[in-house]
Amino acid sequence: MIPTELKRELQNRIAAAVTPREAAVDVMKELQAHYGWLTDEAVGEAAGFLGLSTVQVEELATFYEMIYRRPVGRHVIHVCDSISCWAMGGESLLEKIGGTLGIETGGITADGLFTLLPCCCLGNCGQAPTLMIGETIYGKVTVERVAEILEQKRRDS
Ligand code: FES
Repeated sequence: MIPTELKRELQNRIAAAVTPREAAVDVMKELQAHYGWLTDEAVGEAAGFLGLSTVQVEELATFYEMIYRRPVGRHVIHVCDSISCWAMGGESLLEKIGGTLGIETGGITADGLFTLLPCCCLGNCGQAPTLMIGETIYGKVTVERVAEILEQKRRDS
């Protein structure tokens, strides 16, 4: 169940869109921010707000890699695995981050703080390898830089 204020916010966003479907990603992201991930309950709520079936919302949710249909850590680390980042060591960076955190790709750290996921191009190819945590993009990432970033996230949490 979502708070009245969030409900009103979602209704306003849908009203401002040309079609309700146009607001679907925003609605899913807001519900995800509320629940921590897009739960089955959230899918049902999104469907109700958007006037879509739960299957239609599910289809949209599974298309967007920043929408999580499984529980995730508080900070989701998206490591780009597209061509420029791959060529600049992105794959090995992903493995090393997983090793540092002690999780497999898709896993959640024991403290619930981090989830590690590969992702498509983040549009920062000139600064490869690139990763994103929350809304922040980090370029020319090294293992040492990742350690600093993760420590900062731990301190901020
Ligand atoms: S290929 Fe990684 S940001 Fe574009």
